[in-house]
Amino acid sequence: MTQSGVGIKIIGCGSATPSQVLTNEQLSQIVDTSDEWIKTRTGISRRHLALADESLSELAAKAAASALEMAQLNPQAIDLIILATSTADDLFGSANKIQHLIGANQAVAFDLTAACSGFVFGLSVAASFIRSGTYQNILLIGADLLSRWVDWSDRTSCVLFGDGAGAVVCQANQTEDHLLACELYSDGRQNGSLNLAYQSESQPMVDNLQVARGGYQPLTMNGKEIYRFAVAKVPEVIEKALFKANLQAPQVDWLILHQANQRILDAVAERLQISPEKVISNLAEYGNTSAASIPLALDETIRQGKIKCGDIIVLSGFGAGLTWGAAIFRWGI
Ligand code: UT7
Repeated sequence: MTQSGVGIKIIGCGSATPSQVLTNEQLSQIVDTSDEWIKTRTGISRRHLALADESLSELAAKAAASALEMAQLNPQAIDLIILATSTADDLFGSANKIQHLIGANQAVAFDLTAACSGFVFGLSVAASFIRSGTYQNILLIGADLLSRWVDWSDRTSCVLFGDGAGAVVCQANQTEDHLLACELYSDGRQNGSLNLAYQSESQPMVDNLQVARGGYQPLTMNGKEIYRFAVAKVPEVIEKALFKANLQAPQVDWLILHQANQRILDAVAERLQISPEKVISNLAEYGNTSAASIPLALDETIRQGKIKCGDIIVLSGFGAGLTWGAAIFRWGI
């Protein structure tokens, strides 16, 4: 247990994805690629893409409602909503829109941006608020619509991404702390490897005053750099988290990594000597859904009945920033 005597427990999860699906075959009609290349290099077959009239807030609200239903918790009981996203509907944040959509009128709500590590970073923030006794019930959502920001003429990146949302409800628990360890890292030196950056031009105003006018540019990525970074740093951060939790790799029941590339999932599992049947992958169906990928994979696996009460689950997110982190928790509602 923590010093404060308050632990954290995940009491529900949910997810939602857009119904529109883009297959590798269809992608190969847009850019010079093939189903065979994408499948063998990434493990991805399809991705779900939001329509123009589908918003991030609505998709996230669906995932949140489903998590609240599993938790059997009234939205009015939520104290805090954390939305991990890099693709908010509004630069001022979308968490408050979700608060309104689900009717969580008592909640404080804010966005958190840590790219594909957002869910793990958010879990750590939620745990701090709960362990300090500040809040009892926290809704943590990971959601991204990267399809809006991908350059659909760049075959080196557009084949990877899809849209989705996942959510968990975290609750204060007086008897046991289910979050066994959390480790977070950032390295801004490699910031240029994966960006969705604002670019502007100078616009004269009055006298000699100028203002910047521009917009966010499509996603740019150095795939090889990110691949190398992930394969080196993810096993390391998981090993550190296991050490903190006083656990060994064979005690891990499920490994849920950010769904970036099947080859990254396989390489990390091999380095940690975690057997392939413990590695959760839904890449074939959704591709990389950024901050949504971990809670989406968690929710699917829970609802398939694979994860049993007491199972040890290792999560690890990594991506732009660069950011990476790992969390270890024990499942049990
Ligand atoms: O959330 C984190 C987000 N980012 C990532 O996770 C990215 C991590 N990196 C990766 O997943 C991989 O590096 C990629 C899937 C992006 C690329 O796979 P790779 O095995 O590293 O391929 P590569 O960049 O070494 O390219 C090999 C070849 C090149 O052709 P040449 O130069 O050998 O003739 C590329 O031009 O494959 C070519 N290529 C493609 N061919 C068909 C690159 N993209 C494609 C494509 N279809 N979509």
